[in-house]
Amino acid sequence: MPTITFLEPDGKAHVVEAQLGLSVMEVATRNDVPGIIGECGGCCTCATCHVYVDADWYGRLESADEMEQGMLEGAVEPGPLSRLSCQIKVTDAIEGLVVSIPAGQL
Ligand code: FES
Repeated sequence: MPTITFLEPDGKAHVVEAQLGLSVMEVATRNDVPGIIGECGGCCTCATCHVYVDADWYGRLESADEMEQGMLEGAVEPGPLSRLSCQIKVTDAIEGLVVSIPAGQL
């Protein structure tokens, strides 16, 4: 199983094993990672799963589609590395992924 690191704004790290086939949001909520709510269950309609992807990782992920880009505009403190974690699928290719939780989302 790939490992994902979730970083809180103060640097506290949550390193979790991610089950293949889940979304990064589902991995976070199942592991009680704070600040990632996933209110809509992954339907891309709430933006409560917003994260900043580590700069080294951002370009290695599939790009956000139009719907995700639209929802990100309404996310808390969006930035150039923003993604909705419900739209990132767990595959072996994301082993070592690092994402940060926006301070305003905690
Ligand atoms: S869980 Fe609602 S947009 Fe991601």
